[in-house]
Amino acid sequence: MQNYLIAPSLLAADFARLGEEATCVLKAGGDMLHLDVMDNHFVPNLTVGPLICEALRRYGITAPIDVHLMTRPVDRLIIDFAKAGATYITFHPECSDHVDRSLDLIQSHGCKAGLALNPASSLHLLDYVLDKIDMILLMSVNPGFGGQTFIPATLKKIEKTRALITASGRDIRLALDGGIKVSNISAAAASGADTFVAGSAIFAAKDYAKVIQDMRHALQKIK
Ligand code: DX5
Ligand code: ZN
Repeated sequence: MQNYLIAPSLLAADFARLGEEATCVLKAGGDMLHLDVMDNHFVPNLTVGPLICEALRRYGITAPIDVHLMTRPVDRLIIDFAKAGATYITFHPECSDHVDRSLDLIQSHGCKAGLALNPASSLHLLDYVLDKIDMILLMSVNPGFGGQTFIPATLKKIEKTRALITASGRDIRLALDGGIKVSNISAAAASGADTFVAGSAIFAAKDYAKVIQDMRHALQKIK
């Protein structure tokens, strides 16, 4: 079976108890934390900066953290989040004037590099940089808010992206972000995704472990 990862998105957690929530969701079976950084500019919302990532590390969180930058520009924040303990740093190509350079910047600071594509962003944006990418994050909603509905056209896009990754022969994770829940995770996996970001589906539930377990059961059915 594929090595599937479930990445709870802290956007849907109780921010007043963030350390506790992060610990809880990892204990409940989450593999990697997803931290959404929004700037009220590239996306119409404002969330957290590097201080929060650093605070989570200081609190004792050792699991991988994927910092999803929805900010323009990105380079300064890449450096700050790398220092703050990020594992992956993922940005949108529309947010950097020099995508290749920003990817280099992430890797030269010891982090893994992710490129995020909006629902309407073309896969051509991956041309010429695939060799510098550790993760492709396909947005299955328009970024900016949690709790939105999965856009079905993403499934075809996952298939095409998986074909690109296979052709490259590289070890690149294919993540999906937005509207993922127990009822649609297997369709996403069947199309070729291997990493699933889920915010409201997990944090809106009383029992985080039960949702994560149900997601894993749904994934087990995929060959
Ligand atoms: C949206 C964010 C997502 C968000 C997903 O802009 O990038 O990570 O937290 O939330 P859900 O799972 O509720 O759609
Ligand atoms: Zn995200």
